[in-house]
Amino acid sequence: MKNVLVIGSTGQIGSELTMKLRSLYSGNIVAGYIAGAEPKGELKESGPSAIVDITNAQQIAETVAKYEIDTIYNLAALLSAVAEAKPQLAWKIGMDGLFNVLEVAREKECAVFTPSSIGVFGSNSPKDKTPQDTIRNPKTMYGVTKVSGELLSDYYFTRFGVDTRSVRFPGLISYVTPPGGGTTDYAVDIYYSAVKGETFKCPISEGTFMDMMYMPDGLRAAIEIMEADPAKFVHRNSFNIAAMSFDPAIIASNIRKYIPDFKMEYEVDPLRQAIADSWPNSLDDTCARQEWGWKPEYDLDSMTRDMIEKLREKGI
Ligand code: SER
Repeated sequence: MKNVLVIGSTGQIGSELTMKLRSLYSGNIVAGYIAGAEPKGELKESGPSAIVDITNAQQIAETVAKYEIDTIYNLAALLSAVAEAKPQLAWKIGMDGLFNVLEVAREKECAVFTPSSIGVFGSNSPKDKTPQDTIRNPKTMYGVTKVSGELLSDYYFTRFGVDTRSVRFPGLISYVTPPGGGTTDYAVDIYYSAVKGETFKCPISEGTFMDMMYMPDGLRAAIEIMEADPAKFVHRNSFNIAAMSFDPAIIASNIRKYIPDFKMEYEVDPLRQAIADSWPNSLDDTCARQEWGWKPEYDLDSMTRDMIEKLREKGI
């Protein structure tokens, strides 16, 4: 990677990934954004930025040409609960947008990373240690766009040789940019409530297990897969990756190790609960480990310690 365009650079993943790429590479790391979500502060000052609306193929092509981009991180998406409220927009961004990115990548010979998700799996997929290659039958628009995106990305690799790569992210937990409208968001919100000394109202019921990951591991996965030698790849779009799996009661009791009087009540959101119920309890990431050396560094306890420390430093 020399010159990179990050589409969705001010979002949950993009805001941190763009900074990390700038710390690693000396080329142009362009922060692509849409009107109303302009980069601010360090993100704005530390490198070039450009308006790149993923639904506008010309904007993508012009920015790729101007900065001689060789790798595109396509991070534009609506998260699962928002996508249920706006399914047409979710398709437009997730699929029409991906098509635009892949077409530009085909013409300009760029590599493309597009995150996929645990949301590609549905209620007929095996629930525990869900295998890499198994039934993908999501009932959410988020999952439909992610499965279709995996297929389209593999098609562009096989048919046109576009270097497409992807990981299926679990819920990503970070103290930097909050997620918006995801099903796994509770595992971020719970830390904010705990540090503020508030009672957390949990929208997901006890006993609902989902895979989660601390953002530093997620960023490393996104970078390491793009740097990996593809000679060992059997898969491309998209690899299961995993770090930890817990339900609300387990994360709450882990937080109580450090904030003993932390309180949580259940106030289940039926939409998010239905989505969570259709997702795996945990993923099997053996293929990612074997094909490009994936290995998480954070478990629940080390993540909790770091989250609480960093949120306190932020003055939350
Ligand atoms: N974090 C996402 C969501 O909850 C899942 O990939 O929508």
